[in-house]
Amino acid sequence: MIVHKLEKIWLGLGMASLVLFLVIILVQAIHLGHEPAASGREFVDPELVDKHETFKNPGLHKVEGKDWDYELVFVVSAFNYNPGNVEIPKGAKVKIIATSKDVNHGFEIAHTNVNFMVVPGHISTFTKTFDKKGEYLLLCNEYCGMGHADMKSNIKVVD
Ligand code: CUA
Repeated sequence: MIVHKLEKIWLGLGMASLVLFLVIILVQAIHLGHEPAASGREFVDPELVDKHETFKNPGLHKVEGKDWDYELVFVVSAFNYNPGNVEIPKGAKVKIIATSKDVNHGFEIAHTNVNFMVVPGHISTFTKTFDKKGEYLLLCNEYCGMGHADMKSNIKVVD
């Protein structure tokens, strides 16, 4: 009788640890699946921006299974923003992901709260829901050289 009881306990413990093991694997899988593209990769070699998995493809990209609807990838350099013109669907939650190929630049979208620095070697991100239709000026507010004053671009929020 005693042996039988012990066997049951050991069997129960074995089952419990197996279940626990499976739960850990499942949680890890779910967590990895939701990892944002730029997460864990805050740095990027400014020389290799064009080959980087995110920055080789600038522009607006629809994404699935994330807390945002789109990723808007910008490669910034003296004195321009790539892409130059962007159309965003009204109401879209957008994660802006940007880096610089040369010097520090600003990233300010006039009349919004979007305002951050873009620094070579670093990946800057900013998430925003664009819920007002209209044309927005994207401009550099960090002195970056001769062409600084003309460094601007256009963001259009459309229906
Ligand atoms: Cu770029 Cu000022």
